[in-house]
Amino acid sequence: MKRAIFPGSFDPLTIGHLDVIERSIDLFDEIIISVLNNPDKNPMFSPEERCEMIEKVLTEVDSKECNLIVDSFQGLLVEYAKDKEANAIIRGIRAVSDYEYERRMALMNKRLAPNIETVFLMAAEEYSYVSSRLLKQVFTLGGKVEGLVPRVIEEKMTERVFKN
Ligand code: PNS
Repeated sequence: MKRAIFPGSFDPLTIGHLDVIERSIDLFDEIIISVLNNPDKNPMFSPEERCEMIEKVLTEVDSKECNLIVDSFQGLLVEYAKDKEANAIIRGIRAVSDYEYERRMALMNKRLAPNIETVFLMAAEEYSYVSSRLLKQVFTLGGKVEGLVPRVIEEKMTERVFKN
């Protein structure tokens, strides 16, 4: 049983994250999309809202033989991954600028949990500039994010930013 954790803030999930999930489906038997519950950040959506949105998005994904689960976690990622008996951590890399941060995390996680392998997927070229932070900024200032986040998420962003 190959079980992977795909951890992240996912505030919100972007089309780039979704692409990584879809490409990981063929590599693992089970993927747990794990939303970081970090009270220090000032998120647009609560961890519960993020999980709910991701679950909705995943209803439209053909997961084939792979079991997709959405969960949230706090504390050390590797401890959570060990609890879940995961063999791997999935991370997407968009550009060289992501590399140093990801390299340090992967090496630290390897030191803390030598049996858990970090698997990097290169982000699709067309989404390689997309980040949750940039999208939130653009959207909040009135820019269009259509096609860069799943439709369900764009609707929730509209509700949160313009209808409150
Ligand atoms: O989407 P993000 O914000 O880039 O995801 C970062 C995440 C959640 C993978 C990272 O912050 C994390 O693993 N946090 C949990 C705390 C932890 O284990 N920190 C040590 C990492 S070496």
